[in-house]
Amino acid sequence: MSARINPSILSADFVNLQAGLERIASADLVHVDVMDNHFVPNLTFGPQMVGRIQDVSPVPLDVHLMISDVDRWAPGYAELGAYSVTFHAEATGDPVALARRLRSIGARAGIAVKPGTPIEPYLELLPEFDQVLVMTVEPGFGGQSFMPETMPKLQALSAEVARAGLDVWLQVDGGISADTIGIAAAAGADTFVAGSAVYSGSDPASNIALLRAAAEASTHTH
Ligand code: DX5
Ligand code: ZN
Repeated sequence: MSARINPSILSADFVNLQAGLERIASADLVHVDVMDNHFVPNLTFGPQMVGRIQDVSPVPLDVHLMISDVDRWAPGYAELGAYSVTFHAEATGDPVALARRLRSIGARAGIAVKPGTPIEPYLELLPEFDQVLVMTVEPGFGGQSFMPETMPKLQALSAEVARAGLDVWLQVDGGISADTIGIAAAAGADTFVAGSAVYSGSDPASNIALLRAAAEASTHTH
């Protein structure tokens, strides 16, 4: 398996995003963190900015919505052409209906869970999704420490994906670095978001290569 590395532009320079995007052209997807200062205590950008990011980005967008009222807002991100749109399970009463709507527009549909949200209720819904995001920090900010206590959720997801023969990407986000990525890969993750670990230092491309190699060295095979 080739590990997917999705850098988070939350750690890029917001007044020079185009340069920040060009520096990660070797990434699989660009992770775009949309925050509304309601679902999480931080604020980033909305559909207009994300549309412009999409116009100039050399790689497709992996949009992570940390917002309330996703039934109203999520479809717009699919309509502007995002490759993948992930909403939080905690932010909707009907995740299946929303996933179907996103897929019908042409985006991959993702569901995210905060560290304290159990995964069991969602295991039977996996055929409705293209990606599950297990948050490995409390959503809202970059630069936090990886929470290893979230790993049993990945093990449960990975077992269910294998049992049911599904093609669902298992993503982790928060505190992913060369030191922690192997833990998540061994637990079953195949798609890795990294903000500070990619943008720290002067060479994001070599950080991406380092993370990818570390993940592949620890990848769990069924
Ligand atoms: C946090 C965001 C992450 C963040 C990760 O709520 O969802 O995508 O950018 O940043 P690092 O990799 O620095 O923990
Ligand atoms: Zn994120």
